[in-house]
Amino acid sequence: MAESMKGLHRSHRCTEISTANIGETVTVMGWVQKSRNKGGIIFVDLRDRSGLLQLIFEEADCGGENFAKAEKLRSEFVIAAVGKVEARSGAVNENLATGAIEIRVKDLRILSEAQTPPFPIEVESKTKEEIRLKYRFLDLRRPDIQSKLMLRSKVATKVRSVLAEEGFLEIETPILIKSTPEGARDYLVPSRVHQGKFYALPQSPQLFKQLLMCSGYDRYFQIAKCFRDEDLRADRQPEFTQIDMEMSFVDVDDVIQVNEKLLAEVFKDAIGVDVPLPIPRMTWQEAMDRFGSDKPDTRFGMELKDVSRIVKDCGFGVFTGALENGGSVRGINAEGQGQMPRKKIDALVEFAKGFGAKGLAYLSINEDGTYKSSFAKFMTEEQLKALVDAMGGKPGDLLLFAADKNKVVWDVLGNLRLELARNLGLLKKDQFNFLWVTEFPLLEWSEEQNRFVAMHHPFTMPMDEDLDKIDTDPGAVRAKAYDIVLNGTELGGGSVRIFQADIQEKMFEVLGFTKEQAQERFGFLLDAFKYGVPPHAGLAYGFDRLMMLMTGADSIREVIAFPKVKDASDLMTNAPDVVDPVQLDELGIAVVETEEEAGEEIKES
Ligand code: AMO
Ligand code: AMP
Repeated sequence: MAESMKGLHRSHRCTEISTANIGETVTVMGWVQKSRNKGGIIFVDLRDRSGLLQLIFEEADCGGENFAKAEKLRSEFVIAAVGKVEARSGAVNENLATGAIEIRVKDLRILSEAQTPPFPIEVESKTKEEIRLKYRFLDLRRPDIQSKLMLRSKVATKVRSVLAEEGFLEIETPILIKSTPEGARDYLVPSRVHQGKFYALPQSPQLFKQLLMCSGYDRYFQIAKCFRDEDLRADRQPEFTQIDMEMSFVDVDDVIQVNEKLLAEVFKDAIGVDVPLPIPRMTWQEAMDRFGSDKPDTRFGMELKDVSRIVKDCGFGVFTGALENGGSVRGINAEGQGQMPRKKIDALVEFAKGFGAKGLAYLSINEDGTYKSSFAKFMTEEQLKALVDAMGGKPGDLLLFAADKNKVVWDVLGNLRLELARNLGLLKKDQFNFLWVTEFPLLEWSEEQNRFVAMHHPFTMPMDEDLDKIDTDPGAVRAKAYDIVLNGTELGGGSVRIFQADIQEKMFEVLGFTKEQAQERFGFLLDAFKYGVPPHAGLAYGFDRLMMLMTGADSIREVIAFPKVKDASDLMTNAPDVVDPVQLDELGIAVVETEEEAGEEIKES
């Protein structure tokens, strides 16, 4: 039976007690991690969010009634214990913060009993993630998750204090908004009052933060929930959190400066890591050419080399064919991997094909300087030597080449480079390499939609130097857009915004919006711009991604209290779920049965 804690006040969390408290009487409360009955003496590991503490029960100290209760203790019982702090009677446990002490209990209360949990509450659980997420309330008791969420809270607090110091105001923006799809798919919420109409959940506070600039708030930030109905990955959730900001009367350098200060202070405060400032910058073009990615992981080399010029007249049709089609031939040098067995190379070829490669050409340089290669027979000795030299190849190296359209070559080699680094153990989780990637293309051609789409969003300012190319060569226009990259993950992104009506109109024109369509979608912002708008710029971090990288987690699910799984469902609450027909009636919504479901019903009946 559960007892009350009446008259008791917790005096310490478990690990707040140390040898300095020896002789004091303390009151602690928490969960039983483990209980060991040694006959006449019972040891209990008590757990709270701070850590573990050893309790010791002997009948002579606590009396028969308490001792009988102690005998009943099982894992996950919630208890309160009053007792005296003593030096450990047994050996000091070096692995425990409280390993040198124990509490000799005088009074015990069982506040709540517990069933045997479906999996043990332990660090680095071996239990399958699906089971842990179904019982997330238990999983959240595990110390490794608790420490991640506590660090998350610490970071949020630090972000708030640094930004407040820098003159930012924390302002909330609405969650029920108008749908302005551009980018990911919106989550829609039906309106009861306006049947047939829908709100959308914000993909980000973008338009509202720009309006706040129009209204003179100058520097805004928010730790904001965002919603995007897109395919999930390890670093993507349908609902996630941004550290979002916007500033007036600034250009690229001002945004970068404030954010470097923010990152440096947060990393130092949270995990004691010094971020060397200034953070290196690289243009998008350079990032693609050197790393095949707009979010390069700079913790290791293995950079891409363009060998198009070297191979343009060689006899290997795969290479020359790609060049004739306007593509390129590029390679990477996996130094010291010349002995890689054929099987492993074949696995790399398959990996490359997963990114659209038609194949992967390789050449390994034997220790005696001869080559083993999938294409040597198509080339002269001189051509091969020139290629190897261009790649900086030495005996013992493995050279890998892709030939295709630039976009495919970048993607293939950029990912191959990462795969090799993973396989070779080159990615150190305690190394933090920040990088600004700047001068992104303003537009991206969408084969699907047969039009240009904004690479960042339609309010991103073109670079001054490229303004005149918007009409003549839109694909070549660079934007005042920047991403902050950490260890190959896009941590955040932002841009300087367009604030001039004529440039904005041009932008909508290239994006294929008519004036009416632009007004329909973004009218409120365009209207606001008519009444005095300051030049402004901003940026948003993925807070979950930041915490994933800071804690060395493999997925953002580990740093979100109640995450969703790959199919966007919540295994604990079962959301999304069917709703009461009455709720649908009120909304004027009827669910249309899909053919698939109708088929299933027939099978079942
Ligand atoms: P963007 O779309 O680049 O920019 O988003 C900013 C950052 O948010 C994180 N992020 C995500 N994290 C988890 N799950 C997701 N599904 C997800 N999608 C994005 C990424 C990303 O870098 N309004 C602009 C910012 C601006 O221009 O100021 C925006 O939302 O870390
Ligand atoms: P094939 O002539 O198609 O047998 O290809 C000869 C070699 O070139 C094989 O090792 C292929 O994997 C490789 N290869 C084929 N297509 C490409 C490509 N687009 N880029 C690089 N290598 C390729």
